[in-house]
Amino acid sequence: MKSLWARKPIAALVPDSPDGTGMKRTLGTRDLIALSIGAVIGAGIFSTLGTAAAGEVSSTGEVIRYGAGPALILSFVLLGAVCSLAALCYAELASMIPQAGSAYAYSYASLGELIAWIIGWDLILEYAVGNVAVAIAWGGYFESLVSPWFDIPGWLTHGYFQVKASSSPEILGLLESAPRLMGLPVLINLPAFLIVAAITWLLVIGVRESARANNIMVLIKLAVLTLFVVVGTIHIDPANYTPFAPNGFTGVHQGAAIVFFAYIGFDAISTAAEETKDPQRTLPRGILWGLGICTLIYVIVGAVATGLVPYEQLKSSDPLAHAFEVAGLTQFSWIIALGAVVSMSAVLLVFQYGQPRIFYAMARDGLLPKAAAKLHPKYRTPHVTTIITGVVVASAALVADDAATYDLTNIGTLFAFVVVCLGVLVLRITEPDRPRPFRVPAFWFVTLGGASACFFVMKGLPLRAWKGFGIWLVIGLVIYALYGYRNSKLRRGLDPLPHED
Ligand code: ALA
Repeated sequence: MKSLWARKPIAALVPDSPDGTGMKRTLGTRDLIALSIGAVIGAGIFSTLGTAAAGEVSSTGEVIRYGAGPALILSFVLLGAVCSLAALCYAELASMIPQAGSAYAYSYASLGELIAWIIGWDLILEYAVGNVAVAIAWGGYFESLVSPWFDIPGWLTHGYFQVKASSSPEILGLLESAPRLMGLPVLINLPAFLIVAAITWLLVIGVRESARANNIMVLIKLAVLTLFVVVGTIHIDPANYTPFAPNGFTGVHQGAAIVFFAYIGFDAISTAAEETKDPQRTLPRGILWGLGICTLIYVIVGAVATGLVPYEQLKSSDPLAHAFEVAGLTQFSWIIALGAVVSMSAVLLVFQYGQPRIFYAMARDGLLPKAAAKLHPKYRTPHVTTIITGVVVASAALVADDAATYDLTNIGTLFAFVVVCLGVLVLRITEPDRPRPFRVPAFWFVTLGGASACFFVMKGLPLRAWKGFGIWLVIGLVIYALYGYRNSKLRRGLDPLPHED
């Protein structure tokens, strides 16, 4: 039992590869800020903003969550504060343990192997499951983007489970009208599948090329959001700000719990630690600047969106484009759709980049099969895990429902944040003298406050998220008992350094 809590020595987690077998270090601070904005601004602001403002009701009329209304601005401010506490903790651990596994690696060093496994497993919710939701949202906006020229048939843009979960009669009708294969309706989200496949290919051929593509996408998304703010501000009707908080603090809280999706990603750049130049200085800067910039953008976009139209009208899967349509600014809504497609491509890129690196770190420790720890002989990227992640995410996006995946992603990510905050606390106590190139200020407040604040946001999620999360954790524990427990290099006393074996 005791070995379940075995902690990995930090020295073994700081991989120098004098023999040059490790990944290439090519990323600087600006690349990281761009990666961070690339990861953060996406489906959250372009899609979940609507649900956060207007709330959600099931097909039977039951309230799933209350909306924040124009007080969505407060949800964004609240989340900015909560995430900056977690970001400070990420920055301390990322600078101390610049390793590809992110929260997984940090918990291995601070809280022991069992918790590390739980977090590694949990991060699949943030990265892979999160990307399934983003890919589906991407597919939706892509359809609007090409609609002036041609109509993609509904059975090629809606996955089976998305159709089943829908309360719209038009979408449910696809169950009847779709072509059949062996008696079953063929309902697939082909655009979502294809974008994940394309991004996987980009990542296999190397990070530098991908970072460059990301920089261009970040510029486009910032330009489109600026356009939204400038054009939207001119058309704000102050009457839309009353009532400001129609559901009081409950609405602000439950709105925050869903729009938290918009903040996910500032932590993802910590998975680039082994490909970052001078990670001790570069990582904390990249994380904190990225988060600060995104929070500012969200508050402004939230204020404009809720001022442009009555908040109930934001209830749509493409709320920003829809707000423009409602306000009679149809000529701009196509540009918003373009911005959404580009933004979400950047998000997909960063998450498809992060997930394989977490698998890679876990495989290197023996918790996953060692084939997953192979690097490509020419590109030096973890191509095996990149391809596996691509296949799994693309296949799930082909048929899955997006609504439930947002909640599942949020609960999994918030749980990882709680553990990271506590990890900083534990390491300060157990290893007080270890060099920390970046130290969180007011450390009791930041660590305990960060963990409690993230837990508080978790509590704003509906019951279905908690149930799904519970099932996910049980499956993870069974897999650990059957594989990781027997094969862990640390527990077997093997050299945990990152050899490519
Ligand atoms: N924050 C990312 C998004 O909103 C996951 O798409």
